[in-house]
Amino acid sequence: MRFPKSTYNLVSAVGAILALVATLTFVVLFTVIIVTAETNPYTGIVLYMVTPLFLFSGLAMIPIGMWRYHRRLKRGEAEEDYVWPHLDLNRPRHRRAMAWFAILTVALLLLTGVGAYGTYHFTESNAFCGKTCHNVMHPEYIAYEHSSHARVKCVDCHIGSGAGWYAKSKISGAYQVYAVLANKYPKPIPTPIRNLRPAQETCEQCHWPERFFGAQQRQFNHYMYNDSSTHWPINMLIKVGGGDPKTGQTAGIHWHMNIGVDVEYIHRDEQRLDIPWIRITDHTTGRVTVYEDEEDPLTPEEVAAATPRGMDCMDCHNRPSHKYRSPDDQIDLAILTGQISRELPEIKQMAVEAMILDHETETDVNTRIANFITDYYRQEYPELYDSQRLRVAVSDAVVATQDAFHRSIFPDMKVSWAEYPDHIGHFQVPGCMRCHDGNHTSKEGLSLTHDCKACHAIMSQGSGDRAEVSTTPEGLDFVHPEDIGEAWTEMGCYECHSGVQP
Ligand code: HEC
Ligand code: HEC
Ligand code: HEC
Ligand code: HEC
Ligand code: HEC
Ligand code: HEC
Repeated sequence: MRFPKSTYNLVSAVGAILALVATLTFVVLFTVIIVTAETNPYTGIVLYMVTPLFLFSGLAMIPIGMWRYHRRLKRGEAEEDYVWPHLDLNRPRHRRAMAWFAILTVALLLLTGVGAYGTYHFTESNAFCGKTCHNVMHPEYIAYEHSSHARVKCVDCHIGSGAGWYAKSKISGAYQVYAVLANKYPKPIPTPIRNLRPAQETCEQCHWPERFFGAQQRQFNHYMYNDSSTHWPINMLIKVGGGDPKTGQTAGIHWHMNIGVDVEYIHRDEQRLDIPWIRITDHTTGRVTVYEDEEDPLTPEEVAAATPRGMDCMDCHNRPSHKYRSPDDQIDLAILTGQISRELPEIKQMAVEAMILDHETETDVNTRIANFITDYYRQEYPELYDSQRLRVAVSDAVVATQDAFHRSIFPDMKVSWAEYPDHIGHFQVPGCMRCHDGNHTSKEGLSLTHDCKACHAIMSQGSGDRAEVSTTPEGLDFVHPEDIGEAWTEMGCYECHSGVQP
């Protein structure tokens, strides 16, 4: 078999070899991935991004070589009897070449199809999102793996289906790849993410507001910052409620998502923490109410200039899959699950302090935590340290604290609970109290509810001889575990409870 003379040049030959090698690599790797169910992201990168690159560069080199040959011919630097290859299908040689060309083209197109499909899937996979850019997405990936959405793919919330979103995300993605390579990305990644798709197209694919109803029971387990790390559980029914007027259940928290009402607000800051103006429009009754921050209202000009944001799921559930727990919560969880023993005096306090030492970088975090905790018990409780059992308890506590740290605090990306507050609730960050702080009132004299029993009912609270159990559906009045007078009624919990110390 012979190809046209013009292809017999170095550039075309190298191109052809490159394309051939790339194709073979593709076939081999592809078979390996199918057979071994390999999920290493780098194999994916080589397969779907590097080999096609070589394949297409190789293919492009062939005509370039031919073109250069013809240019040389024209200039008389090469000799040949014709300038442009002429095709004569009466000649068997030409027919064969044509046939080969057609077969190879079809085969290549097929392979490219498979390749493109693979590329599509690969760039949509969690391995690509979470592991390829390990440094950048490491915090999100770790938090995600421990969340209730660990089996929902990143793209189901961040990109979603459809060619339009695919193209859009890949265009911004291309810039992101550049930003990562050039080390130009912000740390931490700023939120709220502005180009996140609307909740209707992501969350509501799986959770319908029409199907919300009833209350959700949750137990919050706290351990106090005292000698015996006293357990203080609070068990409550959170009045999640429903959102479909047709079922007659439109009360409760998901009321904001009621299909029949629009809640809109104006925020002063990028983070949407300062919300001085809220408007609700009830389409079933035609009622429109505007609530304004009494202490610090917007001027009418500022209101006129702003574009209100429609409230959606992410205004409360902003951390459905990347929740960075505070040291307070992490250590409570470790004690609850038995990883840390309350037999060690002051352990809640010490473990939390170890997590917030000056950890500027990720190197030596483990050593610093270990030294801090062991030195403390060795010095302050030498007699305790003589017991083999408690020595083991100390080293278990060290491991659990290190673990807690690596799950929730990422110094290299500057990611932690403090950077990324979770707006559900109001214990460590304002959350609901951005609006429900009791200071948001309307001209008609209405006030956004601040009543402790509007959103949840405490079923039981406290431990030991201070434990209380409710005998009514309305629930108990809240009792603050430490005597702080009436402070908890006048201030937000988050003004004292910041996630590290009372
Ligand atoms: C259940 C839906 C959901 C899934 C699944 C999900 N995310 Fe997110 N992600 C969100 C929401 C909501 C935000 C916060 C948006 C905001 O605050 O504006 C977010 C924020 C982020 C941010 C910004 C920084 C931060 O921590 O808030 C990054 C980066 C990110 N996600 C990456 C990922 C990666 C990588 C995966 C897969 C491993 C993933 N996400 C899976 C919903 C999701
Ligand atoms: C692909 C389907 C899917 C999508 C999209 C999705 N979720 Fe979920 N979500 C689930 C499943 C499944 C569960 C139940 C997990 C379990 O019970 O452990 C869940 C659980 C939850 C829970 C209760 C558990 C918890 O963490 O407190 C909340 C709240 C929630 N999702 C909010 C959201 C929000 C907000 C979004 C949009 C940003 C979203 N979900 C997007 C499937 C999805
Ligand atoms: C004036 C400051 C202040 C305010 C406001 C306040 N607390 Fe506390 N809280 C404390 C102190 C001090 C302690 C005792 C130290 C400790 O945490 O063990 C404490 C302990 C607790 C504990 C037990 C252990 C822990 O820290 O997790 C809970 C639970 C608690 N408070 C809930 C609340 C709630 C809910 C609110 C809001 C309704 C609130 N607090 C408001 C100061 C405050
Ligand atoms: C006003 C704040 C707010 C808004 C807006 C909101 N939620 Fe919720 N949602 C809550 C609270 C509070 C809970 C109770 C669970 C908790 O405390 O973590 C909850 C619970 C849930 C649960 C678990 C319910 C159960 O019974 O197990 C799901 C799922 C959920 N929300 C999805 C959504 C989706 C999807 C949207 C948007 C259509 C949405 N939420 C809008 C505050 C809100
Ligand atoms: C952006 C401001 C805003 C935020 C944030 C917000 N709400 Fe609301 N909430 C409203 C408005 C507006 C109303 C309606 C008041 C009215 O009916 O005029 C409302 C009403 C409610 C109601 C009463 C519903 C009824 O049956 O009358 C509950 C319960 C509630 N919110 C719970 C919550 C909880 C829990 C959170 C935090 C997870 C939260 N809200 C966060 C603005 C907000
Ligand atoms: C606007 C609705 C709303 C109001 C008003 C409200 N809460 Fe809450 N509260 C919530 C929600 C929602 C959560 C659940 C947070 C979560 O799921 O993490 C919560 C959580 C709590 C918790 C458990 C926090 C934790 O992490 O341990 C306590 C205790 C509590 N509230 C006490 C109070 C008290 C006391 C008042 C009155 C001063 C009050 N709440 C007013 C919505 C409200």
